Amino acid sequence: MSVTKPYSSFEVAPISGALGAVVTGIDLSKDLEPAQLKDVKSALNEFLVLLFRDQSLTVAGQRNFAEHFGPLIPHPYVHGVDEDPDIFQIVREPGEDYSWDNFYHSDLMFLERPPMGSALYAEEVPPYGADTEFCNMYLAYEALSDGLKQVVDSLRVVNESGDTKQWSATYEGMHEKKNEEGRSVHPLVRVHPDTGRKSLYVSPAFSTRFDGMTVAESKPLMDYLYEHAIQSRFGCRLHWEKGSLALWDNRVSLHHAVADYFGEVTAHRRVMRRATIQGEVPIPAH
Ligand code: SIN
Repeated sequence: MSVTKPYSSFEVAPISGALGAVVTGIDLSKDLEPAQLKDVKSALNEFLVLLFRDQSLTVAGQRNFAEHFGPLIPHPYVHGVDEDPDIFQIVREPGEDYSWDNFYHSDLMFLERPPMGSALYAEEVPPYGADTEFCNMYLAYEALSDGLKQVVDSLRVVNESGDTKQWSATYEGMHEKKNEEGRSVHPLVRVHPDTGRKSLYVSPAFSTRFDGMTVAESKPLMDYLYEHAIQSRFGCRLHWEKGSLALWDNRVSLHHAVADYFGEVTAHRRVMRRATIQGEVPIPAH
């Protein structure tokens, strides 16, 4: 069923009850009309992840679209494409059986101003598999008990990049950019600047401990929050086709690339192109 009411510029079909929607009737290679842009922003606030199929986007076209939501930032540890240092490719060559960004995360959480969103364009995809899963961190927060909400509302999380080589070293098609390791402390519960809603902001990929606590002290609650957040009732799964573009809000969702590369799939390349959009310093709940 399509939900068309609030969006006069295009049609929106939810992917799951939790988050994600397929948007049809918009060509992202053309300059967006103000009404279309307003609708995309509203739909992003409503669904958190938007999937636009059958798009034909050059690197410049992808920048043009993504910049509507904020300035682009380069990946700190992976070189950009020749035409644009802020846009980089995520490449899995045939035979590679691991996937970049396999763990649930929000992009670049270790930056002081982590990204508000990312726009990921599928250049080359396997005939099946290699989907991306998302979860809704508003729902994860809202489903906690009042008692635990009170605890998490005041905690802060240390987020670290880890060894910077991990971003490129084992991937044949990804090229290392040398930069210092990243580290930032952010609120565990952040407030979205448009919706005013609270969401959890923690991930198994980057969050190492709670500020002021040891790793051992932090681990039980962190593990609980991860297991809680990635329940399928809070999630959705995107299946990619060549020419699909997904735009997501990194402030209120986690995602990971599903590493189901085996059998015939390993004979295929997967090439995605990501534009990463600058966000604000996360707004704490208190
Ligand atoms: C990403 O984490 O930005 C990439 C996800 C994917 O390749 O599916």
